[in-house]
Amino acid sequence: MNWHIEQELNDKNIQQELINSANIPNHIAIIMDGNGRWAEEKGLSRSKGHKEGLESVRDIVKASSTLGVKYLTLYAFSIENWKRPFAEVEVLMSLLEIYLKNEVDELHKNKVRIKTIGKFNSLPKTVQKLLLSAVEKTKNNTGLTLTLALSYGARWDIVRAVQLIALDVRRGNLSPEDINEGNFSQYLSTKDIPDPDLMIRTSGEFRLSNFLLWEVAYGEIYVSNLLFPQFRRNDLYEAIKSYSSRERRFGKTSAQIKNEKKSIENDSYIKKVFNAIKSI
Ligand code: FPP
Repeated sequence: MNWHIEQELNDKNIQQELINSANIPNHIAIIMDGNGRWAEEKGLSRSKGHKEGLESVRDIVKASSTLGVKYLTLYAFSIENWKRPFAEVEVLMSLLEIYLKNEVDELHKNKVRIKTIGKFNSLPKTVQKLLLSAVEKTKNNTGLTLTLALSYGARWDIVRAVQLIALDVRRGNLSPEDINEGNFSQYLSTKDIPDPDLMIRTSGEFRLSNFLLWEVAYGEIYVSNLLFPQFRRNDLYEAIKSYSSRERRFGKTSAQIKNEKKSIENDSYIKKVFNAIKSI
């Protein structure tokens, strides 16, 4: 199904209004927390919570894609999640299998490019195979880049980057004094993905839980009190509105940012006038 065609008119209008009035983040990362609590509150098993969480994933992916978000990264399974009861880990892995088996074609038709970050070799072989084939099939797509963080931990990724750098130094490909923030980033598993502009966490917890610690250095954080299975597209739009109302200073002063904005606006005004004169 084409998501633009199946999109409800009301949602189309809301998205258009958002595009006109807000600054849409290039990269949104989500810590999907609260599946278990959602289920427990309803007297259901934790697996039911994860299943309902998958419904939120579906909705958020579609909405991000039709809205024109370029990158969406979902924290689907942390490296610490392996410590959960075996039965719960099995449920999460089987949901992942179901998602990849049943939905890659639809994602592909909608130009979604699938990526994964994390300790790939620790995932079950069936999941590894499905992921590899999803990544391969969608690698040339130009729409939303959907990155699934699986068996992922930011500290694990940073330590791995240090090991790779050490190897390059030992081989003589890099000298220690040439290591900087720019080339360090190139050793992380997120090297092909821009840093997140907006990091959303559900369930009202103010923690980063070892997610994209390096990459989120200047990202805006939004905490929603909703549990992840309750978090749907309209809640995503609220998060985007909040993001858009903030001033990102990247360490500069507010006055500097305002001046920069003014000079960009002036440049684009001059360009418009210049093009208008050229076309006469
Ligand atoms: C945290 O909730 C959520 C997870 C550990 C897994 C997230 C998984 C999904 C949303 C479903 C599958 C996703 C994909 C992409 C196929 P929690 O269990 O820690 O909740 P709690 O803190 O209330 O116990």
